[in-house]
Amino acid sequence: MKTALVILAAGKGTRMNSELPKVLQPLAGAPLLAHAMQAGARLEPEKTVIVAGHGADQVQRAAFGLDASVDLVLQTEQLGTAHAVDQARTALDGFEGDVAVLFGDTPFLEAETLERMLAARADHDMVVLGFDIAEVQPRYGRLVMQDDQLLRIVEYKDATEDERAIRFTNSGMLRCNAQLLFELIAEVGNDNASGEYYLTEIVALANARGLSVTAVKCDEAETLGIDSRADLAAAEAAYQARARATALANGVTLTAPDTVYFAYDTVLGRDAVVEPNVVFGPGVTIESGATVRAFSHLEGCHVARGAIVGPYARLRPGAELSENTRVGNFVEIKNARIGEGTKVNHLSYIGDATLGRNTNIGAGTITCNYDGVMKHHTDIGDNVFVGSNTMLVAPVVLDNGSMTGSGSVITSDVEADALAIARAPQVEKPGMAAKLLKMLKAKKAKLQRGS
Ligand code: UD1
Repeated sequence: MKTALVILAAGKGTRMNSELPKVLQPLAGAPLLAHAMQAGARLEPEKTVIVAGHGADQVQRAAFGLDASVDLVLQTEQLGTAHAVDQARTALDGFEGDVAVLFGDTPFLEAETLERMLAARADHDMVVLGFDIAEVQPRYGRLVMQDDQLLRIVEYKDATEDERAIRFTNSGMLRCNAQLLFELIAEVGNDNASGEYYLTEIVALANARGLSVTAVKCDEAETLGIDSRADLAAAEAAYQARARATALANGVTLTAPDTVYFAYDTVLGRDAVVEPNVVFGPGVTIESGATVRAFSHLEGCHVARGAIVGPYARLRPGAELSENTRVGNFVEIKNARIGEGTKVNHLSYIGDATLGRNTNIGAGTITCNYDGVMKHHTDIGDNVFVGSNTMLVAPVVLDNGSMTGSGSVITSDVEADALAIARAPQVEKPGMAAKLLKMLKAKKAKLQRGS
């Protein structure tokens, strides 16, 4: 069954007290919207339509950055959830399949839950996602069930006392055939306590047509919406706790789990070891058996088996570490491929570079990749020995088996097996140190006598 996602993201999020639209607030290194899209992606949607309103330009930029194939439609006035979904009508014109409605500010929804809703569609015309609330509260619509059949959803404001006591409530997510959805939405009015066009109305309208509507249940934690900074902070803590538990369950060693921070897409292989105080930004993959030592910061990079990173290392986007590499303390790597067995162990910057196999980069080496206007590439071959404190002024090539003398400033290519030394020659003056010291001491004594 084909699926199109409609993600509602037009709300202002006034309680966030922010210039940033609510759905772009970050959770685990990605906007809330990305989390909703990530869960929805499991359904392999044919189309994804995002309904934006407040901060639509920003939402559009972020959404296209995440997935260039999404459609963005505008809801200029927020007249209710049915009105919001209706904005996707033209974008989905002629689409034959189901629409799954998601909220852009509900980041904990599990992909498995969406799959359960899809499975339930085999026996029902419409499937709504509900959850049991621990305490009675006014926020959610109540699901009025008769056995398996969901008869209607009543918003708290419009509910009777008996209905308000119902604990089975509406998450807001639902799915049904696209054509049916838009037919029913066309029948929704706004004669209710809020004067809004409620999407929830379509359940009663479907019942009136004799259709089968049911509700699938999920955990309350999955439907947690985010309305304030406090909610966002609590969500971050909850996300990190869950990510740590998942990593441990997947066979990753975390020596101090509470000090490790994950991004929404961090991938850690089995038997990877992560020491305390490591931060993963977006886009990191660590293969099985690699070690990330304490106080390292990684983003947009790949670390292969047997590699050891840190302590105190920084891997920036485009860092690609092959098997058994070593990247040590106070080393920064950006947009660079480090070949198998190669070591960059101390105090170096390697940017816009390709390093071959079994090469050794001496302490304090810097690839001078930026001339103030453009970036240039450094190419270092296999079995190269770069002496400590070498400045490699890019573009420059060090061919296989070559060597540079410590403290060199290398501005032209070095051929295979050659030694390049580019520093002032050493001059030695016998007895000069002692003479100089004597002179300076005499000068100091004279100054002290004078004062
Ligand atoms: C809605 C449901 C309620 C459910 C609750 C779960 C309706 C009428 N009510 O409540 O039964 O228990 O979600 O959280 O559907 N949005 C728009 N445009 C609009 C209105 C809303 O894009 O015109 C978006 C919001 O940005 C948000 C989502 O829809 O992402 C839900 O809106 P919100 O106001 O939080 O939910 P309620 O309508 O109160």
